[in-house]
Amino acid sequence: MRKPVIAGNWKMHMTCAQAREWMAAFLPLISNTPDDRHLVVAPPFTAISTMAEAAQGSKLELSSQNVHWEGHGAYTAEIAPAMLLEHGVAYAIVGHSEPRKYFSESDEQINHRARSAQSNGLIPIVCVGETDEQRTRGEAERVIRRQVEQGLEGLDPSKLIVAYEPIWAIGTGKTCESAEANRICGLIRSWVGSPDLIIQYGGSVKPGNIDELMSMSDIDGVLVGGASLEAESFARIANYQAS
Ligand code: 13P
Repeated sequence: MRKPVIAGNWKMHMTCAQAREWMAAFLPLISNTPDDRHLVVAPPFTAISTMAEAAQGSKLELSSQNVHWEGHGAYTAEIAPAMLLEHGVAYAIVGHSEPRKYFSESDEQINHRARSAQSNGLIPIVCVGETDEQRTRGEAERVIRRQVEQGLEGLDPSKLIVAYEPIWAIGTGKTCESAEANRICGLIRSWVGSPDLIIQYGGSVKPGNIDELMSMSDIDGVLVGGASLEAESFARIANYQAS
């Protein structure tokens, strides 16, 4: 039985003061959310401790937006697993299209990050997805398959989340049709060969499309950017009702 994971990725948004305000608005809205789903937020590093304190005793779990493969060392701007575990962080996003694009993160580096997360008890959320150009050229499946094969090499699929985030759908308001998102998630599941793998969809998820997305057979959750910054809209997403 795959338990859906509804995660908000705050990216480079939210000071500690804003995070506290968000939590004050959000927590009452999830007091009746059923336990059949995980609820997760990935704040910027500076807000993790504030969020961990505010989330105590609630259903909300925390993710980081990155993790390094070394335990410590001369790696300016990076974050080690123990620094996250100290705050009760349970997940780590790796391979998001933004660090892939702006910092040229490779599948090999992403794999190192994901392995480090797993071996330290964090669940990696490994993002994959094609650009608009790659989709137009009919290369989407090949690109995603390479990201999956290289990025997930050596990982235990029972302690892993894959997020299918088509790059053309991120922050554009253009959601991937739910049937197409479901088809790609199904392909990823067949390539990994694990019926229990949790696969999220991400890219312009909103209160208006969450119920349909969560009704799809191979979509086990969502990774939400913009709509997670507003407590009410993320609460509506968290309280989805799948048919
Ligand atoms: P949006 O929901 O803003 O499209 O962002 C998706 C995303 O990148 C989540 O990681």
